[in-house]
Amino acid sequence: MSCKLIFLFLALVYAHSNAVSVRQNVRKFPDGFAFGAATASYQVEGAWNEDGKSENIWDHLTHSQPNPVKDGSSGDVAANSYHLYKRDVEMMRELGLQFYRFSLSWSRLLPTGFPDVINQAGVDYYNNLIDEMLKYNIQPMITLYHWDLPQKLQEMGGWTNSHIVDWFGDYAQVAFKLFGDRVKSWITINEPHSICYYGYSIGHFAPRIDSSGVSEYMCTKYLLLAHARAYHIYDQEFRPSQNGNIFIALSGQWYQSETDEYHDAAEDYIQFTVGQYAHPIFSTTGDWPPVMKERIAAKSAEQGFFRSRLPAFSPEEVEYIRGSSDFFGLNHYTTYYVYRNESSTNFAVPSFEDDIGADRYQLQEWHTQKDVKYIGHVPWGFTKLLVKIKEDYNDVPIQITENGFSTLPGLEDDTRVAYYFDYLNALLDAVESGVDVRSYAAWSLLDNFEWIEGYGIRFGLYEVDFEDEARPRTPRKSAFLYKEIVRTRALDPSFEPDASATMTIDQGH
Ligand code: NOJ
Repeated sequence: MSCKLIFLFLALVYAHSNAVSVRQNVRKFPDGFAFGAATASYQVEGAWNEDGKSENIWDHLTHSQPNPVKDGSSGDVAANSYHLYKRDVEMMRELGLQFYRFSLSWSRLLPTGFPDVINQAGVDYYNNLIDEMLKYNIQPMITLYHWDLPQKLQEMGGWTNSHIVDWFGDYAQVAFKLFGDRVKSWITINEPHSICYYGYSIGHFAPRIDSSGVSEYMCTKYLLLAHARAYHIYDQEFRPSQNGNIFIALSGQWYQSETDEYHDAAEDYIQFTVGQYAHPIFSTTGDWPPVMKERIAAKSAEQGFFRSRLPAFSPEEVEYIRGSSDFFGLNHYTTYYVYRNESSTNFAVPSFEDDIGADRYQLQEWHTQKDVKYIGHVPWGFTKLLVKIKEDYNDVPIQITENGFSTLPGLEDDTRVAYYFDYLNALLDAVESGVDVRSYAAWSLLDNFEWIEGYGIRFGLYEVDFEDEARPRTPRKSAFLYKEIVRTRALDPSFEPDASATMTIDQGH
């Protein structure tokens, strides 16, 4: 080798070893990739008892004494989107969104919970919202169930009553009939793990049933069957004429083994959280993840139960659920380290945690927003999870149905700006590794009621002033970043968003 060549080689090695980990080049999103933002009915609508809407489980919970929500608040008025939907659509236009994901309030549409009474004012509201969006070519993506079950159905057992499969199927059918001529993207259920774990296991969320290791698995079984019912109704009765798609949105965080020794523990965590829902729907064999079946059966026997606390699916049910989703809808926020901890005294017996037999934690340094330790900023976990979903579930096409970051009120949300940039970068890393990601919805379009946290923790691209009756919305710095990403369909590290700039609607929106 000539001296010149050796020098060039050494220079290259040197440059490489000094490379910073952040890429400095502009990265493009694939053609056809869609950008949107998401919300949910109870979190934004308000109008809790207006125009014929009946009580749902969150109305019930937040009106109970004492109200368990941290700031004692409720979604009674929330962001008042029931009355301010035109402003919401204007914000979508300002951002240049291609789609908007929102949910229907079951008790607003069907106040008895059943299709015997269809509330025309509720139908009008959703028609108005959909039509207003379509005027500007913003596609609606509707979630049928985002946690606000009619209270009357809860009093009959909610998601632990097997009849919910019929109730949910009937409700879904009404929604497809009413809106399916214009709505081409349907999500059946949002974050089943949150519904069954926070609602029926540790008692954090409505209906606050504290029955870890027992009723949460009943909830999962009927929830999966209800989801599949809605899927098959759409597939057989509506898809042929309406030509849309339908899928489920699962919450999936990344669980990283603390050391190689804990690889199995991290895998268990993934199977008990994401896999509990994904394996029955997206795996080749269907049914519960094998590790859940074995572990819970063995523990149940040891604990003196006469049968497994994990209720079985019949072979027909396995087939009914398997393949019942056109996409893998993913809500992803953060990452945890996992280690094996079979003998932890922190876990009640029986419990979901004891069934997993592992523990998880986050690093302080991941909490870039020091005053709100809610979402850890760990973008590499997003890439790893996406690659695993591709590998485990046969290259399933993925839609990111939620991703976003929590701060306190304020327009200069630099930690959220960094989060969006880094997570979208991580998404592109996954795309480069061959993961088929089709769309991305930022959570959230605007500040809203963050469940048990109330209004203390904010997720909006737009800030909402909840002290002001008019609920004014103001774009944050992150809104300017997101607008630029959507406009250029690219990530440019040199772009500096400015929260004091004037937000305008670009031509064509
Ligand atoms: C997931 C839920 O779907 C949504 O309702 C919630 O506000 C966000 N995560 C943020 O916690």
